[in-house]
Parts: sequence; structure tokens; C-alpha cells
Amino acid sequence: MKAIITTAYGSPEIFKVDNVAKPTAKPNEILVRIHASSVTKADTMMRTGKPYIGRLMIGLTKPKNPIWGTGFAGVIESVGSEVTKFKTGDKVFGENIDTMGTYAEYVTVPENGILAPLPENLSFEEAAGICDGGITSLNFLINLGNIKAGQKVLINGASGALGTAAVQIARHFGAEVTGVCSTTNLSLAKELGANHVIDYTKHDFTSNTNTYDLIYDTVGVRSFRECRDALTEKGVYASPVLGMPLLSDMMVTSVFGKKKAKFSATGALPAKETKRLLQILLNIIEAGKIRGILDRSYPLEQLAEAHEYVDKGHKKGNVVLKPVA
Ligand SMILES: NC(=O)c1ccc[n+]([C@@H]2O[C@H](COP(=O)([O-])OP(=O)(O)OC[C@H]3O[C@@H](n4cnc5c(N)ncnc54)[C@H](OP(=O)(O)O)[C@@H]3O)[C@@H](O)[C@H]2O)c1
Repeated sequence: MKAIITTAYGSPEIFKVDNVAKPTAKPNEILVRIHASSVTKADTMMRTGKPYIGRLMIGLTKPKNPIWGTGFAGVIESVGSEVTKFKTGDKVFGENIDTMGTYAEYVTVPENGILAPLPENLSFEEAAGICDGGITSLNFLINLGNIKAGQKVLINGASGALGTAAVQIARHFGAEVTGVCSTTNLSLAKELGANHVIDYTKHDFTSNTNTYDLIYDTVGVRSFRECRDALTEKGVYASPVLGMPLLSDMMVTSVFGKKKAKFSATGALPAKETKRLLQILLNIIEAGKIRGILDRSYPLEQLAEAHEYVDKGHKKGNVVLKPVA
């Protein structure tokens, strides 16, 4: 099969198209013919090998796994002898967090992995990208933000993968949502359900008098300290982008003060919790309350171009690869 092989960290030129053996499903696995796989901001950070601490998981001097990529949607080609929940021909989607391998035509996935039947109202392209933003934003909104109907939630970076999912999910839970994005994306944030929008190129949301129960800074461009006055008395600032300021603010606010700074690595959650979040995401998808936002799709061979685009930090929702034309 055709796959993208990665043997070093660096710029998008590190990716090489190659022909490798098609994987075979073990007894507890399924083999998926991939119709679309996600290219995420997290993928591009992993490619650079920075921050270095991440290499403890993905390989110290070079990637442990030569085929990257986690999000996928496709059709089951074959199933292992012990598989009971899926059969050949089923359409599925999910996240292969531990073993990756979705920058390819085929991937094997454990039957009990982060995997679900493809809902009828999602295309392969929409489904391939929806877990990254959907599961991460559910983790942040539910587990860190304790989201409830009527809460005021501000989503900074409302037009990215995490942000587009977060706006829709927060509205689904009945929150009053303010989406922060640039001028060109204001209409997208409104279409997704944001009650209010703020154009960050013209206004600084921390400098008006509004306060929020939760500020979810999906792109990690503001800090807890900058946002403190924009939080309600027991408000939470949560960001999926960890740096030293957030780490120190988390430590301090875990002991002092009512306002809290929070972070979570969604990919490191116990599998049971990720599956619980996937089930919640499926319920929201099936209720028609969230749609996958697709910005661009690239043929498998153009992974480097896809990474260059995602690197710029201005994608709208998701970018996917299409191994099947
Ligand atoms: N901790 C975790 O569990 C976890 C899980 C997944 C991802 N992540 C991380 O989360 C981060 C966000 O991922 P993502 O995929 O959502 O990113 P993304 O899709 O690349 O975000 C792009 C969006 O951010 C907006 N943006 C850029 N600069 C902005 C600014 N100054 N203020 C407000 N919005 C701005 C852009 O809008 P404009 O074009 O309008 O500027 C664009 O629509 C990444 O760093 C990723 O690695 C963490």
C-alpha cells in the first residue's frame, strides 16, 4: 500500500511517499481502508519534535512509528478472528492514538479502540477530523469547565478545529457562547451558533467589562493572568496549549484564589474516559447538533503541502488527507 514514511523530525520535507506492506489485522483488530485522515495542529507540532518533552512518548532522536496520523474514517476491509462488534464493509471513524498509522491507504485499529460506526449525517472527510476537536473540546468543556446551561463561555480561536467543535458543543449544553476570531471568520462562528462574536483584530476581549464562567483559549495565545479580570468570581481559564506560564498559574491557582487555570492532555486520558467522551460526541452528532467543518483536503502524496498549510495557524476547522481519490 501507499504510505507516508517519517524517519526524522523537522520541516514538512521530511515526509516521503513509499510503498510498504499492507498491514494485517490481529485477532482483536480491524483493517480499515482509509477514505480520509486528519492533519492536525498537534500533528505539525509532533513533526517538529518540539517541545522536546513530547519525544518521551514519540521517540527521542527519531519517530518510533514511521507512519504517523491518528484521525481516520473509512471502510472495514477485514476483521480479526476475535472481533464481534464490527464486520467487513462497515463504515467507521475514530482516532488511533497509541499506534497512529493513518497517513496511509490502510490502518489496523483495535476493536476496543477509539472507534465507532460512521454516523449517517457525516461524510468521511467530516468524520476524519471531528474526533480531534470534538473529544478535546468535550474534555475541556465538561471535565475542566464543568459546563452547564446558562453559563457564559468564551471560546478564543473559535474558527479552528477545537474552536469550531467547542462553539457547537457549548451551545448544545445550553451555554451562552462568545466566539473570538478574526474578521473573515466571524460569520462562521455565528453560523455555528455563537451568541456573540468578537473580532480579535479589532477588540481585546479582556479589556471590556464582560466576565465569563469559562474562557477556553483553544489556541493558547492569551494567559490566565491576562484573562483573570474577564473571569467571574469562580471562573476557569483553560487552554490545551501548555507552556511555563500556564504550568505555574495552574500550580498557584490550585492552592490560592477562586479563579483557576487549567490544562489537560486529552491524548493521555485513560481509554475508558476517551471512549466515554466519544460516546457523548456521537450522541451530539446523531442529534444533528454538531457538524464537522472541513477547510481543505489533499491527496495522500501532498501531505507536506497539507502540513505547510496547517503550520500557518489559520485553518478553518479541519484539514484532511484523501488516500482514496
Ligand atoms: N491538550 C490537548 O489535549 C490538545 C488536543 C488537541 C490539540 N491541542 C492543541 O490545541 C491547539 C489548537 O488546535 P487547533 O487544531 O484548534 O488549531 P488550529 O485549527 O490550527 O487553529 C486555527 C485557528 O486559530 C485562529 N487563531 C489564530 N490566531 C488567533 C488569535 N491570536 N486569536 C484567536 N484566534 C486565533 C485562526 O483564526 P484566524 O485565521 O481568524 O486568525 C484559525 O481559525 C494546538 O496547539 C494543538 O496542538 C491540544
